Amino acid sequence: MTLPHWETTPEDLPAAIREIKGALRARIEASGRTVEEVFAVIEGRVRSRVEEIAAARENGETIWPVIDYADIAAGSVKPDDLAALKRRGCLVVRGHFAREQARRWDSEIVDYVESNRFFENYRGPGDDFFGSVGSKPEIYPVFWSPPQMQARQSAEMATVQSFLNQQWTHASDGVNWFDPERDSLYPDRIRRRPEGADSDGLGSHLDPGTLDLWMTEANQRAFRHLFDGTPEQYDPWDAAHRTAGPQYPGSTMCSVFRTFQGWTALSDMDHDQGVLHTVPIPEAMAYLMLRPLLSDVPKEDMCGVTVNQVFPASEKWHSLLLEALSGIPDVKAGDSVWWHSDMIHSVAPVRDQKGWGNVMYIPAAPWCPRNEAYAAEVRRAFLTGESPSDFPAEHYEKDWPNRFSPEQLNLTGRRGMGLPES
Ligand SMILES: [Fe+2]
Repeated sequence: MTLPHWETTPEDLPAAIREIKGALRARIEASGRTVEEVFAVIEGRVRSRVEEIAAARENGETIWPVIDYADIAAGSVKPDDLAALKRRGCLVVRGHFAREQARRWDSEIVDYVESNRFFENYRGPGDDFFGSVGSKPEIYPVFWSPPQMQARQSAEMATVQSFLNQQWTHASDGVNWFDPERDSLYPDRIRRRPEGADSDGLGSHLDPGTLDLWMTEANQRAFRHLFDGTPEQYDPWDAAHRTAGPQYPGSTMCSVFRTFQGWTALSDMDHDQGVLHTVPIPEAMAYLMLRPLLSDVPKEDMCGVTVNQVFPASEKWHSLLLEALSGIPDVKAGDSVWWHSDMIHSVAPVRDQKGWGNVMYIPAAPWCPRNEAYAAEVRRAFLTGESPSDFPAEHYEKDWPNRFSPEQLNLTGRRGMGLPES
């Protein structure tokens, strides 16, 4: 049975939602199992993880795995630590960069934006992408500073990205879905939240897509085990069919395939100062994908998911998952933080923040057809100093003379942007 699919945003969203939900339910039922039975398999799998996390928390255990950069670089990560990374889908890399290096980058970013009168010219947030989950993050729409580019093309970043990419199955059915040794240097922004800040944080959400997760042919293949009655075989680490398909456009989106999202700390941050939380259960994606198909969800509702708005995780539809929400431990400048790109995450609110909360967003976005296509846009934005097309068209850096220049690219940087290697 073939499913209806929409390779661009459907014009009549309610009609398309009704149609896809009916078709997915019919396809699941063709397997001889009901939608409720299939969902119960996933719910059971997820519930046991939620309970395990609650028990670990009772015992005072750290929920987020922590691995020293030195062990990753030496290839000496212990099997128990690898297992924890796969189980939780998230990681703190201790000492990814020297603390002094990270603190120097932080002050160089300040010099960069101040020398270009960024604060005088700032026009406010360029989008309301996070409107539905409530947020006022202190995000600078700056992409091309020397510190960001130095970190993106550094050997330390390549080492950790490769290690993380290797956790995924990247070749199957005779296809190399992505190249784990080559990153596509995805340009993202920075966050600098000052001492004493009050912040409402950022509501629980996920970033891999919106309605396209159910509606494009590639995603229907990627999530095939959920839709053909074999949920036991669903593997959140399988990259098959994830690395070529389209994503529906939005004012803030992610055109690329990321194995892990991540950021590098540019200041020390304590665990109770408005930090990142995740639902550290990679399989929760299966729950999120199947939940809208249950009969208690209105026919034209995908549990709140729509286009051009971030995918929300809500108490109304996902309360079981949110029980497992777990914050990062204390981090120091130079540590990096990573989470599986399908996982729910949020930023806790904070009042009168102690210390700064500064990060550069640098994910693991390995080379694949989807990322190669976006690399053309990255090259264009890099050479002109514009904001990349995944972000609002703010273009602050266009006339900033001291942004990172093409002559400063090393081999990793040139390969990441798809430029000639010499
Ligand atoms: Fe996000």
